[in-house]
Amino acid sequence: MCGIVGYIGPRKAVPILIESMEKLEYRGYDSAGLAIPGQDELLVLKKEGRLDALKEKLNGQSYDARAGIGHTRWATHGEPSDINAHPHTDCTGQFAVVHNGIIENYMSLKEWLQSEGGHTFCSQTDTEVLPHLVEHYYEGDLVEAVLKAVPKLEGSFAMAVISAREPGKLVAVRQDSPLVVGLGEGEYFLASDIPAVLKHTRSIYILDYGEVAVLEAGGVEVLDLKGSRVEKKVTEIKWKAEEAEKGGYEHFMLKEIHEQPRALRDTLGGRISADGVSVVLDEVSISPEEIRGLKKIFVTACGTAYHAGLVGKYVIERLVRLPVEVDIASEFRYRQPIIEPGTLVVVISQSGETADTLAAMREARRQGARVVAVTNVVGSSVAREADDVIYTWAGPEIAVASTKAYTTQLMSMYLLALYLAALRGILEPGKIGGLLAEMKNLAAKAQRVLDNSPVIREFAGEIAASRSIFYLGRGLDYAVAMEGALKLKEISYIHAEAYAAGELKHGTLALIEEDVPVVALATQEALIDKMVSNIQEVKARGASVLALAMEGLEEVEKVANSVVYIPRTHPLLSPVLSVIPLQLLAYYTAVARGCDVDKPRNLAKSVTVE
Ligand code: G6P
Repeated sequence: MCGIVGYIGPRKAVPILIESMEKLEYRGYDSAGLAIPGQDELLVLKKEGRLDALKEKLNGQSYDARAGIGHTRWATHGEPSDINAHPHTDCTGQFAVVHNGIIENYMSLKEWLQSEGGHTFCSQTDTEVLPHLVEHYYEGDLVEAVLKAVPKLEGSFAMAVISAREPGKLVAVRQDSPLVVGLGEGEYFLASDIPAVLKHTRSIYILDYGEVAVLEAGGVEVLDLKGSRVEKKVTEIKWKAEEAEKGGYEHFMLKEIHEQPRALRDTLGGRISADGVSVVLDEVSISPEEIRGLKKIFVTACGTAYHAGLVGKYVIERLVRLPVEVDIASEFRYRQPIIEPGTLVVVISQSGETADTLAAMREARRQGARVVAVTNVVGSSVAREADDVIYTWAGPEIAVASTKAYTTQLMSMYLLALYLAALRGILEPGKIGGLLAEMKNLAAKAQRVLDNSPVIREFAGEIAASRSIFYLGRGLDYAVAMEGALKLKEISYIHAEAYAAGELKHGTLALIEEDVPVVALATQEALIDKMVSNIQEVKARGASVLALAMEGLEEVEKVANSVVYIPRTHPLLSPVLSVIPLQLLAYYTAVARGCDVDKPRNLAKSVTVE
């Protein structure tokens, strides 16, 4: 949701800014821009559309500037256009700002700046008040002007400021929206997200809420909002630069789908005891007494992470015998959830920066709940604010449509469930060991599913022209059906709906007519007879059914038009395997329709506004 970049050092800034913006384009891609110091003023270049449009405008010029800021936008206030693109400038053109987030009181600030100071505005954005505020407070010191401007702002934001008056300086502020400073050799980088700096350095400062970074060629200073120095710890990032590259794949999404066997292995790595019968979660510090005293668990998340939570509910209820409620994060905080002693809240977030998830987590903590976070990004806001963190070791996920994050979130939920079940004495070690052994097998089985891609690709060709597709499943298959339908909607723009197979006849069956494609999940042996009947119901209305079944459940062949099998596994673990054909189906359908797979329209990878 908007990407901020910055550079200061001995090298030409523009090529570095552009390269960093390419790495952040998944955060927003409706316009892009940059600002660099010119002779006596700033040079601001911005353009509606993808980053390529800005590159075209640059026409190969790299300019001489050794500092600059850049931005990729995901519009909130004001349509995507050249004027609304960042950076925004003040009346004099001496100050330029890029921003991520929302300035909630921008209307009143704008009116105040217009009437008091005669400032003139040209865009429809909330961001434009920022350079005018800095201009208003500037008395010869950029840092001081920024420190005076920030307390006037309400909302969540991160911003970076550059000025022609002090061209050797970048000032950045973090209030909620993420921002990191990359520490190179005599050069410094600013970015909303780690992949943008990985090529240059793996040593970073993760700015905290209310911190201001001042980047100069000689070094970086971090201040609090009162201007006092803050001692920062350097975080070393383990991700390799290549992990944020496409590595020969046509799209990041396809690469990330294929990385799942590795990601599953890494997420399990070191978390199973040497004797194979218990889960080692050193990162979870809840005492055994607290675990035994748990009465209820909430899981809250957004998008794909929410779907992982639905699987988590099913698994925890089955294995731990504790009631679990799953909430969409943006609903959780406003519905006055009943959080009593003995309530554990699990938040799931790939990025660890989703505004709604963060807000839900803060609300839960405010009400006294213990919070465990499942996240993929070390040092992310969710990771820093939760009581305990279980990291998914998926590596950087760049494609907007989440894939390897989902399967590693599932793995983390299994680990948590088995950990809780053991400490509550619900499952004996033999049963836990059996499930853990099968979890270890999932990576190899996921590879077998991937090897079956050509069959899915063929089916994708058949559904690519469809207007509407239904996904059916029962139990865990229903949760996975929801994720499969979301994947298809996100990247192919085909209307897709997931239904609990037994519920279909209570209304949705009316939408099934000749040749409507239906994807039917049939991996749960205990429910197979009912599922076969539901497939028959849609077939009788003309649907064309692709069944996704577990090996051994061949009876679906009698009713479905075609069947794709996943390797046999424990029914509770099947979502890890059954989602992969659905990810591939969405991917190949989107490719067949000529869609921009990694950057679907209107979406962004990390949604840092509520
Ligand atoms: C956005 C992304 C989704 C993602 C959701 C939650 O909407 O496009 O792919 O599932 O945010 O993101 P998180 O980082 O919190 O898992």
